[in-house]
Amino acid sequence: KIKSITPRQILDSRGNPTVEVDLVTENGFMARAAVPSGASTGSKEALELRDGDKSYYLGKSVKKALSNITEYIAPKLIGMNVFDLKAIDALMLEIDGTENKEKLGANAILAVSMCVARAGALELGKPLWQYLREDLKVPTASNKTRLPAPLMNIINGGEHASNNLDIQEFMIVPHMDKSFSENLRAGVETFHSLKKVLTEKNYSTNVGDEGGFAPSLSSHEEALDLILVAIEKAGYTPGKDISISLDSAASEFYKDGKYKMQGKELSSSDMVDYYSNLVSKYPIYSIEDGLDEADYDGWVSLTEKLGEKILLVGDDLFVTNKKILAEGIEKKQANSILVKINQIGSLTETFETLKLAFDNNFQAIISHRSGETSDAFIADLAVATSSGLIKTGSASRSDRLAKYNQLLRIEEALGSNAAFDGLI
Ligand code: PGA
Ligand code: ZN
Repeated sequence: KIKSITPRQILDSRGNPTVEVDLVTENGFMARAAVPSGASTGSKEALELRDGDKSYYLGKSVKKALSNITEYIAPKLIGMNVFDLKAIDALMLEIDGTENKEKLGANAILAVSMCVARAGALELGKPLWQYLREDLKVPTASNKTRLPAPLMNIINGGEHASNNLDIQEFMIVPHMDKSFSENLRAGVETFHSLKKVLTEKNYSTNVGDEGGFAPSLSSHEEALDLILVAIEKAGYTPGKDISISLDSAASEFYKDGKYKMQGKELSSSDMVDYYSNLVSKYPIYSIEDGLDEADYDGWVSLTEKLGEKILLVGDDLFVTNKKILAEGIEKKQANSILVKINQIGSLTETFETLKLAFDNNFQAIISHRSGETSDAFIADLAVATSSGLIKTGSASRSDRLAKYNQLLRIEEALGSNAAFDGLI
């Protein structure tokens, strides 16, 4: 049973306040969880409650979310059974009573939800991923316990860097028929190789918000070419060992019906042509948010054109929301979903969205946010769901490595039971 719930304000990887919660059970177990925060957020995400007092942490403090936990959530939850995550989430949603969690704040609700799951795992003495899978019965993409292929964002642009790249993320996906750790090693070696390639060209090797390099480059194609060179120089074969994934976060450069990219104004169908051209030239595995979150017709034509070849991933498009995903599935927008627990704001709803995705053969990618903490919950979630893919940044910055390191620990504990199926 829950004995106490204590929230506090901590700082995320960008130095912005965020919510952390300690939950203690009657048996004396203490679960702790912290909530991440995005920069290129979808407009339909659940509300991240911030205080807005410009003279205090530039308006970004989360004290109201803390007091919502203390005043409204804790008194109702104390005494409840930690194993009953579903009932606890449902009760928090009821207390909030709004569609987008604007009363309590998604950051308040999610921190508690994560703590409840962790507390259940602690009570049973199980690792979190195992508790999520066996006891909370999260939806799974495979019967095998599977370690995910990492989508590593090694060149940062868009809202995550102050360079000139409009596409927000240039990722590598190692997918050799080897273990998770060997694939991670390939990604890390390629990251170091890219640093050398950039240095030789006198490009900046400073990193952006997700730990990838953030040079200013002549074009997106140049970024892709540099990555190919880096993969080869690291001793791997592009396409065979390591592929490339993009996250355009296109809503960020979509203005007045046009995509303003690389100094040009492109229509939705120009963008579809642009991507099919890239896909024919480069070993591209997935494109996330290639189009604006409300360019629904564009998404349908993009999926018609490229859906058989690559993953088209809806992030801002679906915002981990079951209802929005259901509509997208029906209309054939995309074939894959990015899953961010704080976009929807509770674990139970995240699981419902995952179930809908898996039932419809949508690939789910478990994802971090650009503003992160050392909390590695999503690493356990990726293994619990056997999602096959995780997106959690580059090979630098502890906020990103915390997740990869947790996956290494899980792999070690699983031993020969740790399946790595490469890409599905
Ligand atoms: P965000 O970006 O966390 O800044 O929203 C990540 C993404 O777009 O995938
Ligand atoms: Zn995205």
